[in-house]
Amino acid sequence: MFNSLYARLSITLLALVILLGTTVLWIAHETSEQYSQEVTQRLNGDIAMYVTGEQQLIEDGHVNQAAVDKLAQRAMTINPTVEIYLVDAQGRILTSSLSDVVHNRISLVPVKQFLSGEVAYPIYGDDPRHPTNQKVFSVSPILEHEKVVGYLYAVLGGKKFESLQSAVDASYILQMGAITIIGSLLVAVLAAITIFFFLTRRLSALSAHMNNFDISDPVKGPELPTPAKAKDEIDYLSASFIEMATKIKQQFVALQSLDATRRELIANVSHDLRTPLASMQGYIETLMIKDSELSPARKQQYLATAHKHSLRLNALIAELFELAKLDSGTMELNIETFSLMELVHDSVQEFELLSAQKNIKLSVEAANENCYVCADIALIQRVLQNLLGNALEHTPADQSITIRIKDSAENVLIEVSDTGRGIAKHEIPHIFERYYFSHQGHHTEKLGSGLGLAIVKRILELHKSSIAVRSELNRGTIFSFELPLPA
Ligand SMILES: Nc1ncnc2c1ncn2[C@@H]1O[C@H](COP(=O)(O)OP(=O)(O)OP(=O)(O)O)[C@@H](O)[C@H]1O
Ligand SMILES: [Mg+2]
Repeated sequence: MFNSLYARLSITLLALVILLGTTVLWIAHETSEQYSQEVTQRLNGDIAMYVTGEQQLIEDGHVNQAAVDKLAQRAMTINPTVEIYLVDAQGRILTSSLSDVVHNRISLVPVKQFLSGEVAYPIYGDDPRHPTNQKVFSVSPILEHEKVVGYLYAVLGGKKFESLQSAVDASYILQMGAITIIGSLLVAVLAAITIFFFLTRRLSALSAHMNNFDISDPVKGPELPTPAKAKDEIDYLSASFIEMATKIKQQFVALQSLDATRRELIANVSHDLRTPLASMQGYIETLMIKDSELSPARKQQYLATAHKHSLRLNALIAELFELAKLDSGTMELNIETFSLMELVHDSVQEFELLSAQKNIKLSVEAANENCYVCADIALIQRVLQNLLGNALEHTPADQSITIRIKDSAENVLIEVSDTGRGIAKHEIPHIFERYYFSHQGHHTEKLGSGLGLAIVKRILELHKSSIAVRSELNRGTIFSFELPLPA
């Protein structure tokens, strides 16, 4: 409990206040003492001179005892706190009005300071009744034939004074002063402790939040301020915690989904590789075992099927490698400025034989023949190959495929449009997923692997672009994407 920030702050503050309070009280006490001593000495500084008057206290080196007694009597009557001593020129006490004197001499240093008038009040001198105590005093030199033969030394804070002083010490005003100081310090402590409580309460709430951190619900519990509402450091701390927690959650979710995708990929890959591999093995085994029973035409057919499956395996593996590379996050784009028209014409040429076989018209429409773009040429070529390959595959004979190029101020729009069988509305959101094959159409033996559009999507994402599709069943499909013009 004493380890909490709140307890430590409060204890430190309390200790500070106690220290401060005692210091203030001590200083007040000391200065009031000094003050009263100074007042006493200023008021009564001349008392020794007045009482001495015209009396000759020392005559030819002898004390005039009668005169001294009379004078002491008089002084005591004027001011009962005064104690009178007669000392010689060396400070030895010759006679005193009091019986309980324990010291027989006084120091003349303060006496001379007093008489010189150069030292500030209060000046403390010896008290013959209390050798360890120093008291304010009044003194007057005794002269005989113009020569100092002794001093009349009057201690101003005598026994009576002390008893008076202790009565005043306990007086109303001093008590009030002490009570005021202690009271205001206590109020300050209470106020500070309350403030600490509210400040540390927010810190405790935050630390409770951090303790209860749960990846599925990173910001549960009492509401914490948002960065926009933050007023002080604690608010900012809370806000950064929420931000951090949210980010951790996002990354965790992303990692989870990445993990799921990986697992799915491995499952799909092994399944996909197994099917063509198994049928290839089947045909080859049949050829080996039943070699003599098969007609040459059958053998040819089996071989062709096995070959087709090996091609499919090859294509599948190549595409998987390509996608894995694009997905690795370490893929570096080789961005350069190139002529889009040249690339499009090259790609069209690749498919000329295939399109001629199906009697499909493959054409390019461009407003600007000198269109340059900024991108990775090899990857954009893959995009065009995949889109043209799909278009050719899903467009019946005697129809047409058109590549349109439209350039604006910042971008170039590339459209691959066919008049083929189209894609059903409910399938459109899925065609960019890996291993998604449309169930439209009637082709039972499919050569594709379902990775082509996933690769296209990934390549365009790496270019900070995206692929769009518009399609109508039995009317045709348009795939489009944008590439930036050179800066
Ligand atoms: N131009 C198109 N017209 C109609 N359907 C299309 C068109 N392009 C793609 N599709 C549909 O989208 C699906 C996914 O295409 P994708 O290119 O990703 O895979 P694939 O062509 O089947 O295999 P791969 O390209 O890996 O050899 C296809 O199976 C097809 O149903
Ligand atoms: Mg394809």
